[in-house]
Amino acid sequence: MTEKLLVTSALPYANGPLHMGHLAGAYLPADIYVRYKRLTGADVIYICGSDEHGVPITIRADTEGVSPRHIVDRYHAMLKEAFNALAFSFDNYSRTSLPLHAELSQEFFLKAHERGYITKHTTEQLYCPHCKRFLPDRYVEGTCPVCGKAGARGDQCEHCGNWYDAVKLTDPHCKICGETPEVRKTTHWYLDLRKFQKPLEAYLKSRKDWKENVVNFCSKMLERGLEERPITRDLDWGVPVPLPEGEGKVFYVWFDAPIGYISSTREWAEGKGKPDLWKEYWTDAERKLVHFIGKDNIVFHAIVWPAVLMAQWERLPQKEKDFEKELKGAYNLPYHIPANEFLNIQGRKLSTSQNWAIWAHEVVKTFDADFVRYYLSCILPETQDSNWDWDEFMVRVNQELVDILGNLINRTLTFVDKYFDGKIPQRGELGELDSWMLERMAKAPRLIGESLDHFRIREGLHRMMDLARAGNKFYNDKEPWRTRTEDPADCATTMNITCSVIAELCVVASPYLPFLAERTARMLGLGEEIAKLGWEEAGHFAVPPGTELGEVSMPFTKVEPEQVEEQKARLGKPPQENHREKAQDKQLKITKEKKVSGKENIPYEDFAKLDLRVATVKACEKVAGTDKLLKVTLSDGEGERTVVAGMAESYTPEEMMGKKVVLLANLEPRLMRGIVSEGMILAGSATIDGKEKIVLLTLDGDKPELPDGSDVD
Ligand code: 2FM
Ligand code: ZN
Repeated sequence: MTEKLLVTSALPYANGPLHMGHLAGAYLPADIYVRYKRLTGADVIYICGSDEHGVPITIRADTEGVSPRHIVDRYHAMLKEAFNALAFSFDNYSRTSLPLHAELSQEFFLKAHERGYITKHTTEQLYCPHCKRFLPDRYVEGTCPVCGKAGARGDQCEHCGNWYDAVKLTDPHCKICGETPEVRKTTHWYLDLRKFQKPLEAYLKSRKDWKENVVNFCSKMLERGLEERPITRDLDWGVPVPLPEGEGKVFYVWFDAPIGYISSTREWAEGKGKPDLWKEYWTDAERKLVHFIGKDNIVFHAIVWPAVLMAQWERLPQKEKDFEKELKGAYNLPYHIPANEFLNIQGRKLSTSQNWAIWAHEVVKTFDADFVRYYLSCILPETQDSNWDWDEFMVRVNQELVDILGNLINRTLTFVDKYFDGKIPQRGELGELDSWMLERMAKAPRLIGESLDHFRIREGLHRMMDLARAGNKFYNDKEPWRTRTEDPADCATTMNITCSVIAELCVVASPYLPFLAERTARMLGLGEEIAKLGWEEAGHFAVPPGTELGEVSMPFTKVEPEQVEEQKARLGKPPQENHREKAQDKQLKITKEKKVSGKENIPYEDFAKLDLRVATVKACEKVAGTDKLLKVTLSDGEGERTVVAGMAESYTPEEMMGKKVVLLANLEPRLMRGIVSEGMILAGSATIDGKEKIVLLTLDGDKPELPDGSDVD
């Protein structure tokens, strides 16, 4: 039976860029798992999005003196870009500031309210007399009431992960001005978790194979006994409380954020033109809901979120048995919550404020994204905190990924290229070693899959690399460099089998190394065939003899010591990139205010996509049968190209000759009057005395001449 899954990664706050700590916790393991499941033929979607509400956003906005909207727009774009650069394969990446999300969150709240799971209390909350505001969540810091650690936030302690009321903090102080807050009365809505104590105990018992860290955390919390917890805040950024007395109050971010998994699925379904499809993903009891998170999110996913979901059910389950078949029409509860521990950097706790972090958007500028995915997969904090060490990064990439996997691909394909005329040879009679390799090949997908099924991503990587090791051993033992002359048929068999191992690796390594897998499949000349292979099938795939290799090149370039030294030197220093971003933001704001044209402002990244360059007019003639068009031949630094320009009423072909113009070189070619126009010549235009006047944009004649092809920006 087809396995049905809905996989999510914790929605990252849109208050900063993505870093390796994020990736190691909730993201990379999920992407690897989903990519694997897709290859097994499972019916799976992978859902995520930016978490755009709550104090993490408003604090950032306050610090920079901009609006929360400004912050979330900036970081939502950055998060998306970084995820793309690292080949994340979300089926949908949404954002919680969308109206569809607010509507759904309000619906959840109202239903829970109607069923009596939400209470209202006027209580004392921390208020800063200096800042003249209540201090929810990260606006206040103090000593954790549970573990006694200093520097704990108002809602959750980063050290022990517990969730409590800010008034319980010892020695609280306002995070903005440092003042000691006073207490003031305010009204809030509470989720009555006491009503969920029994159902949650039964639910936890019904979960098999959960990771120890998750089970331990929940058991301890349930032992202490659940209490009512406030789920609204005095803030003006977030989803408004949909009750008449709710003015000025919004939901606590942890109430609406997990609902974001559902709203993102709904957005996905709408995008597919099947608005009801999301229901199948959230209410079909056979579908497994898997939430990948970091350990600081355990309480919200394993206790609060199941309670919020159960609050939507017709009745609350009380016994373990009740969970065997979930209540008809109800939302599924999490089937699995693989929570990872934390990642340290160079032996020290990751700290974004001190820039003791490795930022995804920066690291991919220097290193192959697969290097990052590979090393992170080696060190995922699956059972305990782990450590990113730049020297180890270089060693593991160079000595494992490049020397083992890269070398197998390189030595095999260059051999076939050189001695078999670039065509994969035929298998002949099989010897003992050949059979050994084929057996290893056949077993590998199941072995790796077994690790991945149990969220042992590191072990899966090791097993995948074992296949590459076996491939190298086979190659060495078969000595194709010798048999090439002594036993050509055996040499052909060796190369065919090794190419088959590489084809298999293109499949079983693809969850970890998607870029390499795709590149290598193309080098093998089997891009399309390999893309169609299933997980198990890959273990039995024999490359068709006669297949012509694609262009063969080194799969990787090694990491150089200077590159890692440079990375080490960046740690703890102010991120230059951030300064640039802030300056851009400021400029953008000014430009926006001054905006005179009706067109929307665009980010610099969009402008940078334009290939504007210097070009010289080499030939020019009027396009027959038209008054306006000129056919212009330009030298653009790489060769010649033709552009059809609508300026014949302002310039004669003779006047155009020899002019240095600005060419938009990457405009999609267009057919104009039967001529393919490959770009656009920039010019100013205006209507003067009822006539259109066009003036060419040329380069300042008095300055030293720029060669054709020079950048214009
Ligand atoms: O810890 C975080 O980054 C949160 N934004 C995670 C939210 S997960 C989910 F519930 F949305
Ligand atoms: Zn604590």
